[in-house]
Amino acid sequence: MPFQIQWHRELPSTNTYLKAQAENGEALEGDVVAADFQTAGRGRLGRHWEALFGQSTLFSTLIYPQLEVERIALLGLLVGLSILEGLKMYLARLADEGVFFRTVEGFPIALNIDEVFKLKWPNDLLAAGKKLGGILCETGLDAAGRRFVVAGVGVNVRQRLEDFTRNLRTPPTSLYLLTGLEIQPKDLLAPLLNSLDIHLKRLRQDGPDWISREFADKTNCLGQEINVQIGQNSITGTFLTIEQDGALGLRLSNGTFQQIYSGDIHK
Ligand code: BTN
Repeated sequence: MPFQIQWHRELPSTNTYLKAQAENGEALEGDVVAADFQTAGRGRLGRHWEALFGQSTLFSTLIYPQLEVERIALLGLLVGLSILEGLKMYLARLADEGVFFRTVEGFPIALNIDEVFKLKWPNDLLAAGKKLGGILCETGLDAAGRRFVVAGVGVNVRQRLEDFTRNLRTPPTSLYLLTGLEIQPKDLLAPLLNSLDIHLKRLRQDGPDWISREFADKTNCLGQEINVQIGQNSITGTFLTIEQDGALGLRLSNGTFQQIYSGDIHK
């Protein structure tokens, strides 16, 4: 898919901007809106997403997913898989070129890149158990009544520890803290979009059944006892599956099976 990239110095939120364009019929599939800084960046469940100027790769892209509406959550998982693979490929290429990784926080990135990067259901990218990035997928209807998804991605690139807001729910990390490299947020855009393109082609060619399988393979906590916070409530159980519609499958202590569509995992 040819991506059309608009880069803004500052926007309230790349998701909000692109969603409004799509609703007004002013955006096409593959349009990408990226920014150096967002004044009102948004995360899942109405949360804020903050990053200082020029420190993160922040972008949104418009997708018309070939998915039934009941399985639309799979698209968020697919975007997570794409970002994970795109980042791994980018870092592996640097390593091949002889770039030396200095692990500022002592992560074992050079030893086993597959073990370091994980996906946390539903939409977090983790590196050595810390939050490296997040994904916010939002659906809407365009001017012709067609359902679209705006997939927004934020990856922490240049942050030092002191640049992060204190008391974040999941401890944060950045590519700088992982590798010691001064990567430019713009340099990640092409590798991440290329990976997204590969994954979207696979969705078109093979349908969606592989998505939950691959996500399960790359997720943290599968098979473990977890606690899922859903609004004010929390449920404890064993994380058994990622379902074919993207739900988390949990076996409760009384033996019943529950599907969860939205929430936060705690160990
Ligand atoms: C989360 O972790 O809750 C998801 C964070 C998603 C942040 C990205 S940054 C680019 C895009 N624009 C936004 O306002 N949010 C997403």
